[in-house]
Amino acid sequence: MTAEQTAFRPAGHVSDERILVLDFGSQYAQLIARRVREQNVYCEIVRHSITAEQVRRHNPRGLILSGGPSSVYEAGSPKCDPKLFEMGLPVLGICYGMQLACYSLGGQVEHTPAREYGRARCEVSHESELFAGLPTDIDVWMSHGDQVSQVHGDFVPLARTNTCPIAAVRHSQLPVYGLQFHPEVTHTPLGGKILNNFLRLVCGCTGTWHLGDFARETVEDVRKRVGERGRVICGLSGGVDSAVTAALLYQAIGPRLSCILVDNGLLRKDEKEAIISEFTSHFRTDLHVVEAESLFLSRLDGIVDPQEKRRRIGHAFIECFTQEANRIEGAGFLAQGTLYPDVIESGAAPDGPAATIKLHHNVGGLPDKLGFELIEPLRDLFKDEVRKLGVELGLPEDIVWRHPFPGPGLAVRCLGPVNRHRLDVLREADAISVSEIKAAGLYRQTAQAFAVLLPVSSVGVMGDARTYENTIVLRCVNTDDFMTADWTRLPYDLLARISTRVINEVKGVNRVCYDISTKPPATIEWE
Ligand code: XMP
Repeated sequence: MTAEQTAFRPAGHVSDERILVLDFGSQYAQLIARRVREQNVYCEIVRHSITAEQVRRHNPRGLILSGGPSSVYEAGSPKCDPKLFEMGLPVLGICYGMQLACYSLGGQVEHTPAREYGRARCEVSHESELFAGLPTDIDVWMSHGDQVSQVHGDFVPLARTNTCPIAAVRHSQLPVYGLQFHPEVTHTPLGGKILNNFLRLVCGCTGTWHLGDFARETVEDVRKRVGERGRVICGLSGGVDSAVTAALLYQAIGPRLSCILVDNGLLRKDEKEAIISEFTSHFRTDLHVVEAESLFLSRLDGIVDPQEKRRRIGHAFIECFTQEANRIEGAGFLAQGTLYPDVIESGAAPDGPAATIKLHHNVGGLPDKLGFELIEPLRDLFKDEVRKLGVELGLPEDIVWRHPFPGPGLAVRCLGPVNRHRLDVLREADAISVSEIKAAGLYRQTAQAFAVLLPVSSVGVMGDARTYENTIVLRCVNTDDFMTADWTRLPYDLLARISTRVINEVKGVNRVCYDISTKPPATIEWE
């Protein structure tokens, strides 16, 4: 059985107000779903090929057609059942979804001369439920190659930007709407309000779903799945994802949860000690620490390709787990804190043809035959939803608010060769940077802050002597969903303190740079 087949997906809903997102291969499909859930309306992602009959069985209040990388005129581009538009259900098409809705109902779509990415100013030209209560000038986020150039008599253009004459539309008889821009990303600041208008004013939802329902139902589902006697192993990395996973599992099966911490030599400074102290005082789980630094470093010896690093780390990780788990009697399940962005960026979304951006080690690195059944209760959630869930479950603040750390650890922040010496340089620089950000009271206001070690040396001068040493990059970003991110405008004084301390205190570093790239087009991690 493959990892994907065994993946556990919680039902997670009790409300009868439901929205379906049809996934046309968008990087943002789950982000749309989560924005809907934020409005307390339950939302599921389904294949774009779902039939009208199947949709009827889900009994949704409305449909959202996601964006996607295709062009509606391309041979084989994903289409939806045309009968969906005849059901009388409210439909909101976003980007490709809008183009498809217009195309299916007789509009015309053209390929724009230049692909349009980034912020745009959108002028709302017609009143409609979608823009109710919004100003007539709004900032929006565009990310498309095609756009709708003409709409026939049944469509009313609602908004425009400088380069996109039809940035929003509504059908004059059917409850069908379209947005060329992305209301689901944070760079469309009023996007939440637009989605809220669609849900409440167009679909008639009142908002009765809560994340607490998700926790209760997940705990129930885990109990059923694991049974009366099953034992689950959960990997602890020190991050919020694995902590919340462990907390959910602990609620479900109590002492039948065994936690394993693999010290792969790629953890941050003092991280192992902190995890051990947290998880023996907060949880009374059976905690096993596997000392595997030399195994991981030998597997990474000479490897510089990021995907290959991830693959090797993933395999070594599973090996360690299997070995340790064999010592734990009756362990048949493995719980992982995989989140939705890990799934989507590995191109492994269950219902969509999304492109692979990175191979996240807890998804793509898994060998097909695990020997365990996989439990991934957070697989449909985003980081901030997981934090809220952590609070629901009563986890302490310092666990809930800890910045995320990638499964492959410092290996993907140590660009080029990974060895003990380079890891130590990186670990020190990282610890200094983060401690200064904490001391400035900015840790909670930033989503992720860390150091990266570059595989280039540069010339410097220290005490009249020439140096030729390492470069550290400081990366600090603001984001609430990790799908898009902006670099944090850290105060210059703070940057100066970090730079001075890193150069003075970390032997082998003579230069510190600050990363000022947004995601997209860059990613948060450097590898
Ligand atoms: P990127 O770099 O893709 O990161 O913009 C988005 C978020 O995911 C984390 N990340 C990972 N987490 N395994 C993980 O468990 C991985 O391989 C991995 N790569 C990136 C990253 O730290 C950020 O929070």
